[in-house]
Amino acid sequence: MYISNAVSILTKACTKAADVICRHREVVVVSHIDADGLTAAGIICTSLKRAGIDYQPLFFRQLDPSALDQIADQGTDLVIFTDLGSGMQTAIKERGLNAVIADHHRPSGSGVDLHINPHLAGLDGATHLSGSGSAFLLARALGQNDDLAGLAIVGAVGDLQDMAGGRLVGVNRTILEVGAKAGVLSYQRDLKLFGKQTRPVFKMILYSQDPYIPGLSGNEDACIVFLKELGIRSGGERWRRWIDLTQEEKGRTVTALVRKGLRTGISSSRLERLVGEVYTLLLEDEGTELRDASEYSTLLNATARYGHSDVGLGVCMGDRSASLEEARVLLKEHRQNLVNGLKLVKEDGITSLNHLQYFDAGDRILDTIVGIVAGMSFQMADRSKPILAFARDENENLKVSARGTQDLVQSGLNLAEALSEAAAQVNGVGGGHNVAAGATIPVAAKEEFLDLMDSAVGRQLG
Ligand code: C5P
Ligand code: ZN
Repeated sequence: MYISNAVSILTKACTKAADVICRHREVVVVSHIDADGLTAAGIICTSLKRAGIDYQPLFFRQLDPSALDQIADQGTDLVIFTDLGSGMQTAIKERGLNAVIADHHRPSGSGVDLHINPHLAGLDGATHLSGSGSAFLLARALGQNDDLAGLAIVGAVGDLQDMAGGRLVGVNRTILEVGAKAGVLSYQRDLKLFGKQTRPVFKMILYSQDPYIPGLSGNEDACIVFLKELGIRSGGERWRRWIDLTQEEKGRTVTALVRKGLRTGISSSRLERLVGEVYTLLLEDEGTELRDASEYSTLLNATARYGHSDVGLGVCMGDRSASLEEARVLLKEHRQNLVNGLKLVKEDGITSLNHLQYFDAGDRILDTIVGIVAGMSFQMADRSKPILAFARDENENLKVSARGTQDLVQSGLNLAEALSEAAAQVNGVGGGHNVAAGATIPVAAKEEFLDLMDSAVGRQLG
């Protein structure tokens, strides 16, 4: 019941904002450089285009004062902020910007009245609605845009909103229903592993992270033998993908994976995460990254995190030729960068403290992907402690990325809280989610920050 109340509060805010937007001939759209930010911008730019309003998209890694100055310099009549902005209302007003915000980060300050955010409707911005979800609600107030529901779900999945419970919840479910009714989305229980549309089945298992399956994850030969013993044929020249398997073969594989997991001592609560709800974009071609919400979000990350937001936005806005081709090239490079990053972590090693572990990549891993590498490092790291990764950013500050596991979160870990408090104490800024968070701090503060984090995590897991 409270979800439908929240939806009506959000819808009212959207109607108010849409009325103002429609009185403009051109607007600037400002968004965040990740999958949620790109899909949010894709949704808004598409609905503006349909409404005959000119738009100029701008992307930032974070909305700091210099980003706001740059936006103010555009001299535009209206700025629509998506997937960022809620925490910067005071600074937005200080610059005299006429603004609409569609975001899901915790609001702070005040002053922007045209503001769509799940927190303002009593909801949780980490699970109930993403930035792209807020943007989608606004798009519905701007016109007939229900077909954009798929992008809203890609953004939510990109922000890991389905991870805690194995399925999307809150207003995200409302969006799923709108998308299903519009014929653009379907959702079903299936294996949660990454790569069902594009990867050979053995590789999908090989890269399994959460849950990590001892004896299979990271061991290619073992994965191939495992499938052969199950009678899952390779399919001739080309290995079959998950989508090529029959229902019976899929069931057999899942059962065997669970058995294998139990035998190797994985808790049944962790094994439950093997299966969950998965999201399919029905208008996209089968066997492409775009068909699966999780693969789509990775493709987008491979563009925006390398400064190619225009390419990702092109894909979100329907370009299936040049933009998609370029995005696939970037995805290959992204994969290679991740492999190189992991190799580096393996060579350098991970340092263990009392309650956490960390590595410092210096300038050898890009700060925008060091968090992804940190998450993947759990395949070689201690799974009973969260992992912190450091990298230099372009301003010679220290970027920190922290990643936990769902098991640790269930034991009380909240990385967003720990990081934002520890960062604030060393003149940095941080935030994010319980299982994945980030911060930027001065280089010289590293040791102090590690001490603060070690005690904070110790208290949380106490
Ligand atoms: O950059 P990274 O991938 O480690 O970020 C993890 C999460 O933390 C993301 O949701 C990001 O938006 C958030 N974050 C934040 N404040 C920062 C850095 C990251 O809220 N200063
Ligand atoms: Zn987001």
